Amino acid sequence: MLKIGPFEFDFPVVQAALSGYSDGPMRLLARRMGAPYTLHEVVLDKCIVMSPRARRKLLLPLVSEDHPVGGQLMGAEPQQFAAAAAILAEEGYDVVDINFGCPVRKVLGRCRGGYLLSDPATALEIIRAVRGAVPPQIPVTLKMRRGLDDGPESARNFFTILDAAFAQGLAAVTVHGRTVMQQYRGVADWPFLARVKRHVGDRVILGSGDLFTAQHIVRMLETTGVDGVTVARGCIGNPWIFRDARALLAGAPLPAPPSVREQGEVLREHYRLEAAVHGEDWAARRMRMFGIKYAEVHPQPKDVRSAFVNSWSKDAWLAVLDQWYDPTRAWPPGRRKTDPGESAEREIVAAG
Ligand SMILES: Cc1cc2nc3c(=O)[nH]c(=O)nc-3n(C[C@H](O)[C@H](O)[C@H](O)COP(=O)(O)O)c2cc1C
Repeated sequence: MLKIGPFEFDFPVVQAALSGYSDGPMRLLARRMGAPYTLHEVVLDKCIVMSPRARRKLLLPLVSEDHPVGGQLMGAEPQQFAAAAAILAEEGYDVVDINFGCPVRKVLGRCRGGYLLSDPATALEIIRAVRGAVPPQIPVTLKMRRGLDDGPESARNFFTILDAAFAQGLAAVTVHGRTVMQQYRGVADWPFLARVKRHVGDRVILGSGDLFTAQHIVRMLETTGVDGVTVARGCIGNPWIFRDARALLAGAPLPAPPSVREQGEVLREHYRLEAAVHGEDWAARRMRMFGIKYAEVHPQPKDVRSAFVNSWSKDAWLAVLDQWYDPTRAWPPGRRKTDPGESAEREIVAAG
């Protein structure tokens, strides 16, 4: 059971905020595969507050199936951050999540995202202002990395911000076990997540970092004691990870990887949902990007990947679907999404 404010989830596995990806259609598919809670990609507070036009473009209407959903904000100035948070609540977001984790250089240069881990005074002002601006029944949560860098000051700042977040009434904190400087290099530090959970006691911690398979999800929950996890790269083009993790956590065997027929059905539905939101041409452009990720679980991943890479129009994208996801053909079984290469390192760390 995972509890975030008034929301109680029977399955502690959340779809992470994913810039460029976690739009309504991706969130719906994750939900249908079992994710009980999902997050919108991070949005800049300034765009929400200053321009109703930008706001309408960024925050597309939420459909009734897409709840509870978290909206996530990034910014540098407490009052503006708080004003944007209040708007997210008005727009129907069930949870407001504060981003102190983004490692993009431009974001850091503007004192936003992960930068705030080096500036606890401003970080705390933002937390206080946001909690004060959002109606009390709407939980406010925080996303952090394990520090700006590996120095002792970063470690102190991390725990200062973490403790203050809970003292200010935040409902949960997600910790990505990498530093901001690390970006996505190396392995996420799961022992650090265990330490954070021991430190906070009953408070709710979600773990993040290197969840590419259902087994990784179970292992993070078991070895760190976190209350829940957020799946990020592991669910792009792979909503089945939620179904698989649900099975394992219920004590059932791991389901077979999705067949090509099943993959084709999900891709067609994904396209239909994207088209309903963005129109068919734009949907095909987004689905080119998603298709490249879905290709990883196809029995011929390289061919399918390259077909999607070259699908620059709606017709070309649909032709890839007809050729590579033809339900009348006898295909070999689908593959499981694998780790991009660092799990071996994790096994060695775990074994050592
Ligand atoms: C393409 C991409 C976009 C991301 N966008 C966001 C975001 O908008 N907000 C956020 O808090 N984290 C974002 N993240 C970080 C992830 O939520 C997650 O913490 C990180 O990828 C570690 O998890 P993983 O190793 O399982 O992918 C993003 C990560 C990726 C790869």
